[in-house]
Amino acid sequence: MRGFAAVLSISFVCALTAGPVAAQAPIVIKFSHVVTNETPKGKGSLKFKELAEKYTDGKVKVEVYPNSSLYKDNEEVDALQLGAVQMLAPSLAKFGPLGAKEFEVFDLPFMFPDKDALKKVTTGPIGREMFSRLADKGILGLAYWDNGFKVFSANHPLKTPDDMLGLKIRIQSSKVLEAEIKAFGGVPQVLAFSEVYQALQTGVVDGQENTASNMYTQKMHEVQKYGIITNHGYIGYAVIVNRKFWDGLPADIRTQLDKAMAEATEYANAISQKENDDALDAMNKSGKITFYTPNAGEMKQWMTAAKPVQDEMAGRVGKDLIEKIRATIGTAGK
Ligand code: LMR
Repeated sequence: MRGFAAVLSISFVCALTAGPVAAQAPIVIKFSHVVTNETPKGKGSLKFKELAEKYTDGKVKVEVYPNSSLYKDNEEVDALQLGAVQMLAPSLAKFGPLGAKEFEVFDLPFMFPDKDALKKVTTGPIGREMFSRLADKGILGLAYWDNGFKVFSANHPLKTPDDMLGLKIRIQSSKVLEAEIKAFGGVPQVLAFSEVYQALQTGVVDGQENTASNMYTQKMHEVQKYGIITNHGYIGYAVIVNRKFWDGLPADIRTQLDKAMAEATEYANAISQKENDDALDAMNKSGKITFYTPNAGEMKQWMTAAKPVQDEMAGRVGKDLIEKIRATIGTAGK
């Protein structure tokens, strides 16, 4: 008992003399994105935060800034390159303006028949090769995350490309998307994602294209009466980091973060389809918008109208790349 008292008093003296042990400040990763927490990307970023903080025992703190609360989509890559944020997940369409035009291959209408085809490209040599082109921009690509295939919406019924004639359609900043809307007879208008709801509400644009989850979580269905499930193009993301920051991390921390990212990627890609299906259901149930499912003949009209875009844009995104992708996903010659 006396021994125990001695230990206690020694500890007490030590505590008084040594002072508080300086806690090591955590490494902070600011992860900025433009969609809400309730989207596939939003949920993926929160999963990464949870796992990264757990696997590093709190040595890393991930601050997630959703819904353009820190930067708009046309500002965020600059912020990453400058080191103001460390991690982003821009849609693949957003890399064209950065000079990585080949990423716009993912915007080509009707290029990818399904998510399996996309997976073959993003998780294989083509996906890795594309990431390597970001290195000289100070960017390191860590993973590809799915969102889904796009629908169109407007304030009058859309069944075939004829219904889009002369409509101002909001697009992301991508030359391929510009060509796509023109091929369908519309007038493309580039706008930041955070400005789309208001632009639709005030009639600055007549319609837009996006995934159901992006539409629903931005409440676009409240200001659009009609939608059409064309699945004409894809929205997916590249999770990227500031290369200097990432390379400067202690190796053991980076290993844990890589593990967290691999698991968050699996999670985000596993939930993306259901998130989009649920969002479409919820919009249909809202009674505010009516989605049309085109029949085979109408789908053929959309596909025929889109066909010239692949040839027209081959010079921009790379004919070789398009051919390599077609060979990989088994659509060569189709
Ligand atoms: C858009 O701008 O429409 C989308 O890319 C937003 C996003 O990040 O999903």
